[in-house]
Amino acid sequence: MASDDGVILTNDDAAQCKRFAVEKKYWADPYISLMTPRSSAKHAPEISRGYYARVTAMRSLLHKFLKLTDRNCQVVNFGAGSDTNYWLLKDMDMYPKSFIELDFKSVTARKVNQIKRHEALLQIIASEDGDIRLSKSEIHGSDYHLVDADLSVLSQVEKKLQESGIDKTLPTLFMAECVLVYIEFNKTKELLTWIADQFPAAMFINYEQVNMADRFGDIMIENLKSRDCFLAGVEACKSLETQRHRFLDVGWEGADAMDMLQIYKCLPQADVHRIEKLEFMDEKELLEQLLGHYCLVWAWKDPNNLGLADLDVT
Ligand SMILES: C[S@@+](CC[C@H](N)C(=O)[O-])C[C@H]1O[C@@H](n2cnc3c(N)ncnc32)[C@H](O)[C@@H]1O
Repeated sequence: MASDDGVILTNDDAAQCKRFAVEKKYWADPYISLMTPRSSAKHAPEISRGYYARVTAMRSLLHKFLKLTDRNCQVVNFGAGSDTNYWLLKDMDMYPKSFIELDFKSVTARKVNQIKRHEALLQIIASEDGDIRLSKSEIHGSDYHLVDADLSVLSQVEKKLQESGIDKTLPTLFMAECVLVYIEFNKTKELLTWIADQFPAAMFINYEQVNMADRFGDIMIENLKSRDCFLAGVEACKSLETQRHRFLDVGWEGADAMDMLQIYKCLPQADVHRIEKLEFMDEKELLEQLLGHYCLVWAWKDPNNLGLADLDVT
């Protein structure tokens, strides 16, 4: 296995878990089944509930950002994997001026293939003016860009964002859903510093591990290591404070963080009650332990007072 292969495979895991949860009706996503093949694997209810909280919380902040900026903005999705938000936003008429996805070449190449195979995916990208450029591992449409880049190499990220027509003067939302933890801390520090330097109005939403300096964290690190998957950036995942400070220390104006157990309790409770009836779960402690080891961090830079500091997940 090449050193990045284990990390690349984490996208298959995430996409399969999301597809499984969507089929169980935790949330609706008509596109996930087009992005990832069905697997025979079954996932425990606590895994699906964890994904439900992750997807619902990420989307809540994404939608709030789009509303606040009246869609006059850009979204950059780091380590996007098989993410379907672009297509879902199109269906809701909530899409930004530009939606840019970055991942390793082998992941974007597979996404290009899936998009080419499914008219329902391709048509939405081509719908604005029909203009679309496709290569083996990249797509450039009028408001959608899928590009390959190693996020640990800043010069690559910069180049690919430029090729995607990024406009630094527009408010820009950067998302990383379970991605930064796989990249060396110094490399993500460089990336977060560069964004803070270059983008006057920006927000960053980061979902990943937290409270990792305990036994549960050790076991997770060892389990992933045995699958050749290394949590190279785990030092930022010690606590909510280390998560906030990775932004505050490199030029971001403000940052908030909540663990997923806190977030789960703040999500719209009628929907939480609905999903809790979907599958019987007897090990509540297991879910709480899992949710307590993931978090959402959102950071902002807002010199013109658009209101980014007031956005929150609840
Ligand atoms: C756990 S998956 C998450 C995928 C997607 N964000 C989601 O939540 O469904 C992690 C993703 O990050 C990508 N990734 C990790 N390190 C990366 C790097 N250095 N450069 C580019 N992509 C990276 C992986 O290839 C993978 O697609």
